[in-house]
Amino acid sequence: MRLEGKVALVTGSSQGIGQGIAIGLAQEGAHIIINYRSATDAPKETEDAVKALGRDFISCQADVTKLDEIQAMVDAGVQRFGQIDILVNNAGVEKHADFWEVTEHDYDMVMDVNLKGSFFTAQAVVKTMMAKKVAGRIINISSVHEDLPFPHFTAYCASKGGMKMMMRNLAIELAPYGITVNNIAPGAIETPINTKLLNDPEKLKALLENIPLARLGKPKDVSGVAVFLASADADYITGATIFVDGGLTWNYSEQ
Ligand code: BGC
Repeated sequence: MRLEGKVALVTGSSQGIGQGIAIGLAQEGAHIIINYRSATDAPKETEDAVKALGRDFISCQADVTKLDEIQAMVDAGVQRFGQIDILVNNAGVEKHADFWEVTEHDYDMVMDVNLKGSFFTAQAVVKTMMAKKVAGRIINISSVHEDLPFPHFTAYCASKGGMKMMMRNLAIELAPYGITVNNIAPGAIETPINTKLLNDPEKLKALLENIPLARLGKPKDVSGVAVFLASADADYITGATIFVDGGLTWNYSEQ
C-alpha cells in the first residue's frame, strides 16, 4: 500500500470525483476526513466504502465558502488523527449562463466554492502542516477549463484559471516546507455535476465526438492520478497540472 497510515482531507467527498478519490486513497491505506456541505448531501456511501476497506474516517459537514466552518473541520481532523498529510481540494460547482445574464449571486457562488474555498482550506491545512512539520501534499481538482475556454461558463473558467495560478504560486511558496502542490484537470467525467448533459443525448453525442478516446471519464480515472500525486512516486512533482481528459483539450483535426 502506498499511503499506509496517511491522513487525507477530501472536500466534497460525498459524491462524484471526490468520493472516488476518498475511496482510492483509502484503498492505498489512508484514513479519510470526509467533507460534505449539507444534510441532503450526507456521505453515507463514501463512509461505507472507507469502512469496508478497514480505514478510519470522520465526516465533517462544512461549507468551504465559510472560513469558520473550514477551520472547525481542519481542527476536528487534527484532533482525531493528529495531523493531515494530504489535502484534496475537490468541492466544486458550475452554472450555465450567457455571460450577459450571469447574476452576482451565481458569480459569487462559483468563485467562492471553487477558488476561495480551495484557497482558505489550503491555508488552514498548510498551517497545521507547518506546525507539525508534515511534508504534505495538496492536490486541487481544477478542470481542463483551467486552460480551455468553456463558453457560457465564464465564472467557472475564471475560478479554474485562478486555481491554476494559485497552485503554481503555492508550489513555490511551500516548497521550502516540503509541501508539494499540484492540480488534476479532469475533462468530462461521469458525475452528478454533469447530470443534465448526461441526460441530453444530442449534447452527449457532440461531446463524445470531441473526445479522442471516445468515452467519458470515470471517477476512477481521476482517483488513480490523485493516489499517484499523494504517493512517494510523485515526490519530485510540484507546480504541475495533470490532464485527465481522454485527449479532449488538444483535440483538433482537419479532414
Ligand atoms: C465540467 C463539465 C464539462 C467538462 C468538459 C468539466 O470541468 O465540469 O461540465 O463537461 O469540464 O468540458
